[in-house]
Amino acid sequence: MTATPSLLDVKDIRKAYGAIRAVDGVSFSVRPGEIVGVIGPNGSGKTTLFNSILGQIRPTSGSVEFSGEDITGMSPLELARRGIGRTFQTLQVFGGLSVRDNLIAAAQEFSGTMPGRLFAKPDAGLGQRADEMIELFRLKHVAHLPAGSLSYGQQKLIDIAMAFMAAPRLVLLDEPCAGVNPGLVDQLRELLVQLNRTQGGSFVVIEHNMGFIMRLCPHVICMVEGKVLAEGKPAAVQSNPAVLEAYLGN
Ligand SMILES: Nc1ncnc2c1ncn2[C@@H]1O[C@H](COP(=O)(O)OP(=O)(O)OP(=O)(O)O)[C@@H](O)[C@H]1O
Ligand SMILES: [Mg+2]
Repeated sequence: MTATPSLLDVKDIRKAYGAIRAVDGVSFSVRPGEIVGVIGPNGSGKTTLFNSILGQIRPTSGSVEFSGEDITGMSPLELARRGIGRTFQTLQVFGGLSVRDNLIAAAQEFSGTMPGRLFAKPDAGLGQRADEMIELFRLKHVAHLPAGSLSYGQQKLIDIAMAFMAAPRLVLLDEPCAGVNPGLVDQLRELLVQLNRTQGGSFVVIEHNMGFIMRLCPHVICMVEGKVLAEGKPAAVQSNPAVLEAYLGN
């Protein structure tokens, strides 16, 4: 029996800022359709790892492969065209645009060449996708309101829906639950499960909300001081003595 080929292969990524080893030799893989959780105390290198994978910063060393192609150091635009999306720890929503226009703008950013975008009909095909996302994320009643007028939790949902506009094969989410009330956290988890099942996308999710991670992710990585301290089934990682000590120590 042959093993399923990886969708994402992160190999020995390192990123130093002077004497700080923000990411210190991290390797992991994501298979098609898999949901991987990344936990770890504040400052353990989770966001820096994402930024190194996603072309926001250039890693000091190491490589990243997507579907067998070396994508190390590619720009976010090149990655988006290959089917890789992300959400940031902070909101990326345009407050003055309507919810629907935010979704359309997010997809337009990544569709085609600059002349193509300039001369294409502004809404070609994307309106339908935006309406699907609005339905799925239960944002219909606010779809035509300026995004900036909505609650933080609702804006967080818009931000996540934006990442799914281009039907990505892989999405990296940095703290999707931060600042979101418990009811919406549950809704968000159900949405991600649904997107995973119906669209086959793979996710890597950074979160401090343990309940969310434990219920969403069959596989969890715990980072401490730039390194992977433990990896495996969520319950095993959560009860690992070294993991518990790392959290208590912080
Ligand atoms: N641009 C930078 N310049 C210098 N140091 C940085 C820079 N970015 C991150 N660091 C340092 O790298 C380490 C890892 O930071 P990072 O933001 O990746 O942690 P994190 O695990 O995402 O934390 P949190 O859970 O608080 O979001 C920290 O010590 C941080 O101060
Ligand atoms: Mg972070």
